[in-house]
Amino acid sequence: MSRVFVTGATGVLGRRALPVPIEAGHAVTAVTRTADKADAVRRAGAEPVTVDLFDPVAVRRAVDGHDAVAHLATNIPTGASAAARRGWAVNDRLRSRAAANLSAAAIDTGAGRYVQESITFPYVDGGDRWLDEATECACFWGNRTTADAEAATGAVSDAGGTGVVLRFAMFTAPDSAHLLSFANMARRGVWGVFGDDDAFVSFIGVDDAAAAVLAALDAPAGVYNVAEPEPLPRRDHRRALATAVGRRRLRGLPKLAQKAGGEGAASLARSHRISSAALQYATSWSPTRRAVDAWSELA
Ligand SMILES: NC(=O)c1ccc[n+]([C@@H]2O[C@H](COP(=O)([O-])OP(=O)(O)OC[C@H]3O[C@@H](n4cnc5c(N)ncnc54)[C@H](OP(=O)(O)O)[C@@H]3O)[C@@H](O)[C@H]2O)c1
Repeated sequence: MSRVFVTGATGVLGRRALPVPIEAGHAVTAVTRTADKADAVRRAGAEPVTVDLFDPVAVRRAVDGHDAVAHLATNIPTGASAAARRGWAVNDRLRSRAAANLSAAAIDTGAGRYVQESITFPYVDGGDRWLDEATECACFWGNRTTADAEAATGAVSDAGGTGVVLRFAMFTAPDSAHLLSFANMARRGVWGVFGDDDAFVSFIGVDDAAAAVLAALDAPAGVYNVAEPEPLPRRDHRRALATAVGRRRLRGLPKLAQKAGGEGAASLARSHRISSAALQYATSWSPTRRAVDAWSELA
């Protein structure tokens, strides 16, 4: 049994990731900021803790005594706030300051292992090519701090520990705000995903993502993509979502909408056919769910 310190344990990913190491026999401490979520953490079998992730001294104190740290906390803006830089400020600090504090605490206290949530969205457009972890990234201001979080993870490996980055594709979950917004638009006859129909899009079922967090507690140091088994072009998802909401077809967003969304929208329009072969090779993890089958759960 090892003692695992988890941030973000009450979020879309964390809610699923929290019970998995507990069932595997690990003792888990989970960070949350609110009393009602602390109760949920306790019910899941973990020990809740309140700590300011931006305070290095408090973080070191909280991490002390653990064998592994998993930093899953994000604060991704949804809706209109996603278009404004200030909407990303807390998320940026979680991926820069908090990741630096947590990885430094892991190093100082000898926790040995540090697991960091990251994303595949910064990859350049790959067309039909499979994209592995060596793919070049082109960040925009909304996701550039993923590089800080990944560097903090590398520092743990450089110090003799094991730093593991999990680059997740887009989560599919019935409680993901982004997926729900696609379903809401589809009910109004609109396909809300940016990008050409021929372009690939990669998702990851959030239960498979949670299983990857457990796999990362044993994986060799490194950066790993975490995506569904067989990503498909957007066309297939558009059809599947139309069927799920009972429409013959969904009309695309006007080109102007993507233009108005600026760099963020342009980056979301890229063709991403993400390969998770490295994580499957390094661990016993493998993705089980195709995103194209998940739309019916949202509709
Ligand atoms: N790869 C992807 O597709 C991807 C990745 C991340 C997020 N998303 C999406 O983005 C949307 C929002 O997700 P989210 O993960 O940001 O929100 P969320 O699901 O509400 O979870 C946020 C988690 O991070 C913690 N957190 C947030 N701000 C914090 C802070 N300042 N200090 C400490 N902990 C903090 C929260 O803890 P408390 O208990 O303290 O609230 C909570 O556990 C969802 O639709 C999700 O699916 C997608």
